[in-house]
Amino acid sequence: MQTLRLIPDDDGLDRAARLLATGACVAIPTETVYGLAADARDGAAVAGIYQAKGRPSFNPLIVHIPDLATARTLAQFPPEAQSLAQTFWPGALTLVLPLRPDAGIASLVTAGLDTVGLRVPAHPVAQALLRRTGPLAAPSANASGRISPTTADHVLDRDTGLDGRIAAVLDGGPCPVGLESTIICWHDGHATLLRPGGIPTEAIEAALGHPLARHQADPSAPNAPGQLTSHYAPRAALRLNARPEPGETHIAFGPGPLTLSPTADLTEAAARLFDILRRADAQGLPISVAPIPDHGLGAAINDRLRRAAAPRP
Ligand code: TXA
Ligand code: MG
Repeated sequence: MQTLRLIPDDDGLDRAARLLATGACVAIPTETVYGLAADARDGAAVAGIYQAKGRPSFNPLIVHIPDLATARTLAQFPPEAQSLAQTFWPGALTLVLPLRPDAGIASLVTAGLDTVGLRVPAHPVAQALLRRTGPLAAPSANASGRISPTTADHVLDRDTGLDGRIAAVLDGGPCPVGLESTIICWHDGHATLLRPGGIPTEAIEAALGHPLARHQADPSAPNAPGQLTSHYAPRAALRLNARPEPGETHIAFGPGPLTLSPTADLTEAAARLFDILRRADAQGLPISVAPIPDHGLGAAINDRLRRAAAPRP
C-alpha cells in the first residue's frame, strides 16, 4: 500500500478521519511521540496496528480522547485520578483506570484486562482529529522494538518505520516533548508509577501531595507493562554513563559534536533523544552516551537509554 503524507489542514484532517472510520491505521502527531492510531471500538482496525508494527505480543494500548468528559464515559475515575487529570490533561500523562463495562472499547485494546490506559493529548493536530473521530488506540508509530518516532520522516523511515504498511501519516512537525507519556495506575488504592515519561514524577508527586509507589517487576509476567527489557533499540551496541572512546559515536550532554543538549538542559535533551539516537545509529559504530542527571525528565531519559542498551531478544 502507498502511505499518504497528509498536511493537517481541514482537508487532511477530514481525510485522516475518513480513513480511520473505514478501519485503516493512520500515524498521528502528539506532543510526546507519533502514535499509530486506529478506531479503539473496531477490533479488526486495532489488529491492523499489531500487523503494521510487527508487534509480537498483545500489550494493552493507550486510548486517546479529546477531553476528560469523554474519558469519564470510558473509565471510572477515583478522586486522585480525577485530580491528576484536571492538573495534567491535556498533556503527557496516561492514567490506567477501571474500564466501564459499557465503554465499547475493543478487547484487543486492553488485551482483555478490566482496566484501560487513557490519555488526552495536547497536540493541536491530535486534538483536531479526535474532535472528528471516536476514541483512538495508539502505540508509538514505529516497527516493534525500534526507536519511537518524533517526526513524520521517522514514521516513514525505510528501516525502522512503517512506509507502505499504513494508510497515512498526518505530518504535524517534530513532537515538542519527545518522550512517551508518564503512566500511572492504582494498585490496592495506591497511585503507582508504571512508566516514567514526559511529565516528571516529581510534578505528579507534588500534585498528589505524596510519593508514588514504584511498579515492582514481576518475573512471572515478562510481558507485563514496562517489562520489555529491550525496547527503543538502535542497531548499534550502546554504553551508558560513558566517556568518549575512539571507534565509537559519542552522544554528549553538554557541549559536543553530537549532543542531547549543548547547554545540558533536560527538556531539550528529552525532545531530541530519539532523533539523536537515530543519527548516532546511522554512523554504524558502537554508541556511548554521557551520564544524564537522574531527576525530572532525566529519569525518563535514563529509562529509555537503559532499554535501548539492554540485551536484544
Ligand atoms: O506518549 C505516549 O504514551 C504514546 C503516544 C502515542 O500517546 N503512546 C505510547 O503507547 O507510548 P505504547 O503502546 O508504546 O505504550 C503503552 C503502554 C504499555 O507499556 C502498556 O503496557 C501500558 O501503556 N498500558 C496501556 N494500557 C494499560 C493497562 N490497561 N494496564 C496496564 N498498562 C497499560
Ligand atoms: Mg512504543
